[in-house]
Amino acid sequence: MAEENERSGFNWETRFAANETPWERPDLHPAMLAWAKAGELTPGQRVIIPGCGRSPELGFLAAHGLDVTGADLSSTALAFQRQHLDSTGFDATLLEGDVLAHRPDAPYDRVYEQTFLCAIPPRLRCDYETALCDWLKPGGHLLALFMQKDVPGGPPYGCALPAMRELFPAQRWIWPADSDFTAWPHPSLSGKPELAGVLVRR
Ligand SMILES: C[S@@+](CC[C@H](N)C(=O)[O-])C[C@H]1O[C@@H](n2cnc3c(N)ncnc32)[C@H](O)[C@@H]1O
Repeated sequence: MAEENERSGFNWETRFAANETPWERPDLHPAMLAWAKAGELTPGQRVIIPGCGRSPELGFLAAHGLDVTGADLSSTALAFQRQHLDSTGFDATLLEGDVLAHRPDAPYDRVYEQTFLCAIPPRLRCDYETALCDWLKPGGHLLALFMQKDVPGGPPYGCALPAMRELFPAQRWIWPADSDFTAWPHPSLSGKPELAGVLVRR
């Protein structure tokens, strides 16, 4: 996608501080619940949620015994997560800063991706794919939610499957069949669908 479509001056911290967060879901993402039910997310796994924001999936996974890391640029969002964790008695690692620069000491079993790839400028997508390859152990899973949006610009920036196949090449990722993706309309964001699918790091 051309860089001129990039929205300038988008400040996540300001948006959280002002409570202007239309991307937030009122409940747990149904795809996460489906993945948990299917055995994709099990106690003891190391999982990272890049750009976790204030989303409840972090607390949900911590409560289910996963070793969770949540990363975000926004101190306001992470303070919310810390407060929620403390109120429930579960714990998680919270990292503040640019998650694309994160290089963990030990690899992760899972990456849970919820409205993060569609939030970063497309020029950063290759850096993200490089980071994902570094984060995940061979055979680790990227639980992807690819936002579908035809209109250029963002965020959210569209993540059409052909572009995703280029970004996550078959040399490094085992792809599910297109028919194995499930579409989940977003409850706000004009109901744009997210395609849920599991990519396996080779
Ligand atoms: C659209 S929001 C999604 C938040 C959350 N995943 C959810 O679904 O509610 C995108 C999130 O990514 C965070 N973010 C954007 N760029 C980032 C970066 N380079 N490193 C870490 N977090 C980033 C923002 O602060 C924001 O919380």
